[in-house]
Amino acid sequence: MPTRHAAARTQPNRRLIARSVLLVLAATLATGAMAQQRVLRVITDRTDQGTLRPILEAFEARSGAKVEGVFMDQGLVNRLESRPTEADVVISKDAELLDIAAQRGLLDVIGSKKINDAVPAEFRDAGGRYFVDAYRARIIFYSKARVKPADLSSYEDLATPKWKGRICIRSGSHDYNLALFGMFFASSGEAKAKEVISGIAANLARAPKGNDREQARAIFEGRCDVALMNSYYHPMMAANDEQKAWADSVGVYFPNQAGKGTFIMRSAAGVTKNAANRDLAIGLLEYMASKEGQQLMVDRTRQWSVLPDIKAHPLMVKLGAEQGLVDGRFKIDFIPLAQIAGKREEVIRLVSEIRFDAER
Ligand SMILES: [Fe+2]
Repeated sequence: MPTRHAAARTQPNRRLIARSVLLVLAATLATGAMAQQRVLRVITDRTDQGTLRPILEAFEARSGAKVEGVFMDQGLVNRLESRPTEADVVISKDAELLDIAAQRGLLDVIGSKKINDAVPAEFRDAGGRYFVDAYRARIIFYSKARVKPADLSSYEDLATPKWKGRICIRSGSHDYNLALFGMFFASSGEAKAKEVISGIAANLARAPKGNDREQARAIFEGRCDVALMNSYYHPMMAANDEQKAWADSVGVYFPNQAGKGTFIMRSAAGVTKNAANRDLAIGLLEYMASKEGQQLMVDRTRQWSVLPDIKAHPLMVKLGAEQGLVDGRFKIDFIPLAQIAGKREEVIRLVSEIRFDAER
């Protein structure tokens, strides 16, 4: 009996020990795996996660690292400043913001030969702290029914009286317009910039409201005839059941092709000063600048690649052909980002001074 007792006691004990050993083993393996899987932290104001996600996921698959993203809308530079150790990589839809971040000492020099060799100099920061990974054009969308492309020419022309009551635009304080208006300041000087921005404000059909796509909708609904919008919204609207009619009602026009070129909105990427995973960070940036990464960017975001041999998105090629552009290529205004960024405060002041967004 005592033996049986002992046996009865030892059996569950043995089972308990075996289970404990397994648990410890599993925990050790899990810890090991966790220690091995490195985490790359990305902060970005590309809020449309759907367009950036595939690139981050492709990099995860290649590198074995996990990419954790902080997605935000406005205030990227302030966030970098207030939480300097939060991220390794910063990706922005507005390269001007990375230029500001670089000026404030928040970015490290990338120093990648791969990127320097692949990306043309006009798309790289002179100080090597960020590079442009894609761009789109801020262009004129026009009513196919009420405007002929021959009526259009330049951004500046939109400030002339013939467009009185015919223009729609989103808020003058939105980053997209701050950048465009900053270009007016940087390339034509304060007096001319004020004249053009006030002229456009005077020609608005309604108070600025809604996002870019809402302006195409307003054209479709007959509220205005032209709008300033980012190029990729045309193919994006065309792919959306509800918005397809808006896209069908508008054509796109690349302004200033006879002059200094069309204004582009550049998106960009860089490494933070405090990057804890610098090698991984550079790896992601190199992937973004690679042919595969760039092709993915064109396919997903309908922007243009910065690599000369990656073709424009087929839909942009088609839209551009209506204006006589070949292969979706157009003359670009390569105004330096630092110049636009340097005018940002002045633009913000002017937009509020002339009450650009006011009801009218
Ligand atoms: Fe956008």
